[in-house]
Formats: sequence, C-alpha cells, structure tokens
Amino acid sequence: VAPALVGALVPAAGRGERLGPGRPKALRDLAGEPLLVHAVRGLREAPEVGPVVVAAPAPDVPVVTALLAAYDVVVVAGGEQRQDSVGRALAALPAGTDLVLVHDAARCLTPPSVVAAVVAALRAGADAVVPVLAVADTVKQVVGDPVWGERVTGTPDRSRLRAVQTPQGFRREVLAAAHRRAGGAATDDAALVERLGRTVVAVPGSEEAFKVTRPLDLLLAEAVLRARS
Ligand code: C5P
Repeated sequence: VAPALVGALVPAAGRGERLGPGRPKALRDLAGEPLLVHAVRGLREAPEVGPVVVAAPAPDVPVVTALLAAYDVVVVAGGEQRQDSVGRALAALPAGTDLVLVHDAARCLTPPSVVAAVVAALRAGADAVVPVLAVADTVKQVVGDPVWGERVTGTPDRSRLRAVQTPQGFRREVLAAAHRRAGGAATDDAALVERLGRTVVAVPGSEEAFKVTRPLDLLLAEAVLRARS
C-alpha cells in the first residue's frame, strides 16, 4: 500500500502585535522576503509534504495568493483565533490527506529534519506528535495581574517541562475530532487532542524552529539565515 498522504496547514492570520506596529506578522520582511514565504519554502523542502493550505489574514488573501504562486498552495481566510484559522485550513485540505501537519508561519526557519521526525512518528502509529525542546529558564506559576502585581504560587520541576514547537502532526480524523469538540481556546492543537484523552508523542525539536514573536527574534532569524548561506 502507498504511504498515507501528508498535508500541511499553515496558520498565518495573526496580527503579530508583540512584534510592534506594522503589517500582519506573516507578511513582515525577513532578509527581503515575507516570513510566510520562508515558512512555506521550508515546508516545500521537506519531501514528505504534499498539499499545503495557508490561512491568511482575510484582507490579505489576494496578496498572499500572489506571493505564494510558485509554491502550489491553497490560501483561505483565517479566523479570529488561531484555532479558527486552523479549522478553516483543515476544511480546505483535499480529501485523502490522512496525516496533517499544523505549522506556524512564524516558525519560518524550521529545518526539514523536524518535519521528517514528526512524520516518522505519525507513520509509526502516533495519533498526535509535537516537537519539543528542554526549557532553559526556570518557569514559575503566578496569580494576579501583570500590571498590578503578581505572586508566585509554584515552581514546576524544570526537568519535566518542554517548550513545544511546530509542525505538530496528527491523524486527520483525530485533529478534526479535537477541533469539533474543542471546549475553549488553546494555544496549540495538541492541547485540543489532549482534552480528548488521546496520547500526544513528543519528538526532538530544533533551536532553529523558534517562533518569531518579538523584535529580537527577527535579528536572530537574520543571523540564522546568514549562517546558512
Ligand atoms: O499568536 P501566536 O504566536 O500563538 O500565533 C501562532 C501562529 O498562529 C502564527 O503563525 C499566527 O499567524 C497564527 N494565527 C492565525 N490566526 C489567528 C491568530 C494566530 O493564523 N487568529
């Protein structure tokens, strides 16, 4: 039998407010091209990936369609929350695509080796897969208000914490069920699968799969690109 077809969904409809004022984050410039173009090119460099669906900010769908014309992608309008954007992209994924990657446009320098590791775990039978890294900082839990004052309520054992990246991988029916039954917002798709009580497998991520979030991340991304060329 032929191996299951792998598709990728790229939520790229966020505002990117933490990056400062300007264009939606996926359309910000990195070394002469929008972040989203770097991200989609990275997916296309992964031989495992077939159909790709991008969720763009609704007003930018025509611009994004033109930007990505060379990459054989479908572009849909994203939604209010990241989850809505992923749901809309999933609805546009061609039938017969049984394995799905969800990949943040903002993780625009993710190496193809991370895609390969996630797909390998799916092909080995996992329902859901996340790439992870050990956490460098000690992490505190707090209550209260960031402006009016917070108080620390606990310190989780750092050796058991992982920072989670994308692409996250899913059996399509598991991701679809998780989105149908999503009770409340989540910051990643695996959290919705966890709520179904399904097992999520962790595989090694990459430092180069960091999410461009704040201005310093853009400097880091430029340095990574320079080092690669
Ligand atoms: O906000 P956060 O950094 O978690 O966003 C992660 C990814 O989700 C980004 O690539 C962003 O463009 C995308 N997103 C989206 N639709 C939204 C909000 C975020 O596609 N409504």
